[in-house]
Amino acid sequence: MNILVTGGAGYIGSHTCKALHDQGHTPVAYDNLTYGHPWAVKWGPFERGDVADTAKVLETLKKYGCEAVVHFAAFSYVGESVQKPDVYYKNNVGGTLSLLLAMNEAAVKNIVFSSTCATFGGPITIPMNEKHPQNPISPYGRTKLIIEQMLKDFTTSLGFSAAILRYFNAAGADPSCDIGEDHDPETHLIPIALKMAAEGKGAVTIFGDDYDTPDGTCVRDYIHVTDLANAHIAALDYIRNHKVRGLYDDFNLGNGKGFSVKEVISRAEKITGKVIRQTIGPRRPGDPPVLVGDSRKAEEKLGWKTAYSNLDTIIETAWKWHLKHQNQR
Ligand code: UFG
Repeated sequence: MNILVTGGAGYIGSHTCKALHDQGHTPVAYDNLTYGHPWAVKWGPFERGDVADTAKVLETLKKYGCEAVVHFAAFSYVGESVQKPDVYYKNNVGGTLSLLLAMNEAAVKNIVFSSTCATFGGPITIPMNEKHPQNPISPYGRTKLIIEQMLKDFTTSLGFSAAILRYFNAAGADPSCDIGEDHDPETHLIPIALKMAAEGKGAVTIFGDDYDTPDGTCVRDYIHVTDLANAHIAALDYIRNHKVRGLYDDFNLGNGKGFSVKEVISRAEKITGKVIRQTIGPRRPGDPPVLVGDSRKAEEKLGWKTAYSNLDTIIETAWKWHLKHQNQR
């Protein structure tokens, strides 16, 4: 099956393209390269374009006879979204509406959507399952929640079928080291810590150590990017096997364990054998103290299981990729 992967040159998008290819599908990577990388497109054709360009999306869907869409293309920096909500609403919400209009026109109505635990906001119960109230505390989280609601409406009335995948903290790299994480700017904890380890200079700024958590730093549920990629395959199969149109279902994807910022840095020191210096900075706006997911629904309904998501494997694969990739840049 040919599948349009918006944001297919990005971090999770490119890992998903690899997983789709491994399952015999052809991923058509559609990316405007604002953050994506041409070198990350290896498993199918590449079309450079913006999801906001409805005509180009429509043309691409038709050109390749795509039967489904996996939608990643979005801006995803929590902190930046607080500073630039206009940019986030335009790109994420406006871009997705454009994509959905093109899909509707092309009668391609199966979609797997890349959502986020940032749609939940602060935790009321831990771990968080799909019934947890959604009260996002960042514009980024709000854009993703609006898109979830838009998709719900499209499934109710326009014959779309949608699976919503809410990731906790995506991390790690392809275990064969074919691809990995490369953001510019890099804002994510694990790659920043590994960069400090590799360069032996600078320090990781810990964003707040006065949270109500065991060591005062934020707790997150880190989930391996390859496990996330595989969840998209399972979600596509789930939609396609559901014969009745109008399916809408949501799945939280985490590994159910939380690690604090300090714990992550300490594990990165053990794995790299390097000292990673740290300084304490102020809290970062938009950061809830704890985010830990309950993925039992995905396990039961999608048959999804994590294979790489213990923290050591996540950091080891990310480290291997970092060492390989720094020599290629
Ligand atoms: N952190 C630091 N210092 C840094 C970078 C991060 O202390 O230099 C902390 C953050 O405050 C947070 C944790 O490390 O507590 C993880 O931060 P990341 O930036 O790695 O990840 P985020 O939690 O901000 O964001 C990621 C994705 C979002 C997604 C979110 C869900 O980028 O798209 O996970 O938690 F919504």
